[in-house]
Amino acid sequence: MAQLRLDKMLVNLGWGSRREIAAMARGGKITVNGEVCRSPDRKVDPQADKVAVGDEEVRYQEHYYLMLNKPAGVVTATQDNFQQTVLSLLPARLQKAGLFPVGRLDKDTEGLLLLTTDGAFSHALTAPRRHVDKVYLAGVRGALAPDAQARFAQGVVLEDGTVCRPALLAPEGAADGLQYVRITLREGRFHQVKRMVRAAGGEVVTLRRLSVGPLTLDPALAPGACRALTEGEVRALKAASGIE
Ligand code: URA
Repeated sequence: MAQLRLDKMLVNLGWGSRREIAAMARGGKITVNGEVCRSPDRKVDPQADKVAVGDEEVRYQEHYYLMLNKPAGVVTATQDNFQQTVLSLLPARLQKAGLFPVGRLDKDTEGLLLLTTDGAFSHALTAPRRHVDKVYLAGVRGALAPDAQARFAQGVVLEDGTVCRPALLAPEGAADGLQYVRITLREGRFHQVKRMVRAAGGEVVTLRRLSVGPLTLDPALAPGACRALTEGEVRALKAASGIE
């Protein structure tokens, strides 16, 4: 692989700003192949050279791919002056790695949110013409129209006249005064699930995204927790979105 400046590589991987990396190097905190390296401008081969910061080995990757179990109450944004963002839930080092959310979930929506540094990956999963399925579990108040399932299958017409792509609506039982429905969409319009349910006579009270294409939210992730996607998961998502 092409050689890269040590400080550039560590900045790209979220270990700090260029100035912070330089300070760490001067302080003897960075090793390359087991030897202390005090020159932040030293060239390294990110795949062949073993770089460590303190005791932690630096694993090179061109891009980050994470899944987050988004809790309700945080906004899908990298920065916001007034509200907590999904980015603030990531470990401190990853907050500086240039990650951004893939698409958007509403502030009160929970569940599977992907974050990445890979713009092509994000675009492929969110572009309407790629048709990657997104599955949601909605808790609905009010009675849905008797033909709601058929209307979803044909393409719901929203209040403003927008015709949605065909979608699946499947009942998932009732609890605490709400009826639960599983909704599978192939597009991502603003507040789409809420608007489709409203057009069918109900009101979404709770909303959780369960899956994106072949990727299902890891049940081991508590609300607010994230983990890196495995190589297999990234490959499957790329295949589903047609970029590989
Ligand atoms: N549809 C919505 O209405 N909200 C979301 O957050 C996602 C899909």
